[in-house]
Amino acid sequence: MKVFAHRGASGDFPENTKSAILEALKVDVDGIEVDIQSSLDDYMVIHDSWLDRTTSGKGRVSNFTAHELSKLDAGNGEKIPTLQQLFDWNNNKSLLNIELKHTFALERFVAQLEQNIEAKKISKANILVSSFDHHQLQWLKNKLPWLKIGALTSSIPINYAKFASDLNAYSVHADKTFINKAFAEDAKKRGLKIYAYTVDREEDIALMLEYGIDGIFTNYPARTKAYLLSLQK
Ligand code: G3P
Ligand code: MG
Repeated sequence: MKVFAHRGASGDFPENTKSAILEALKVDVDGIEVDIQSSLDDYMVIHDSWLDRTTSGKGRVSNFTAHELSKLDAGNGEKIPTLQQLFDWNNNKSLLNIELKHTFALERFVAQLEQNIEAKKISKANILVSSFDHHQLQWLKNKLPWLKIGALTSSIPINYAKFASDLNAYSVHADKTFINKAFAEDAKKRGLKIYAYTVDREEDIALMLEYGIDGIFTNYPARTKAYLLSLQK
């Protein structure tokens, strides 16, 4: 079962910051998940559309420029990273899962993605773009047929993973509390990977193994990897 660092190694470092991302890379995760919001003029690595919970700022991310946002503290004196910084820090070994939150001007996102893939020789197989906004995913897949897309859900849909097959997705990313064996098996039957978020406790990890889940998003990637390794002994 693959281990993805959720918002970086966010259990021990401020979520979606440089330290959380670099720590995740250091422990050699299979993938890193980060969240993207649009500012007035750029894409920022931050989970909420509001600044209040995770930064020293107040208000909507989308009401500020990247320069204005760069003055804020995102925890332990760190800054809110830009999407470009994320590409700069990426080691091209782990999968980079970019979760699009409140994002707009997707043409610019596509251009920036393609430019970085070209300039930094990033393997296309190492990029996975996910979203709860399936319209956004559909638009992206039409634009970039090679792109791996991950369809997020926090429910057990009536036709299980059909919605993701319809999107021609690579993977389904499901809330661990709304996932079961039938859902997992349906995803697999359709040739989709199924990943669960956010899985930190050993009992939940064991349950995901039982369901045959392909990967989990965890806030504690080092601890989770060590636990999975201990099960193999
Ligand atoms: O991408 C998996 C998970 O991060 C989705 O929920 O709210 O943590 O972004 P959230
Ligand atoms: Mg997320």
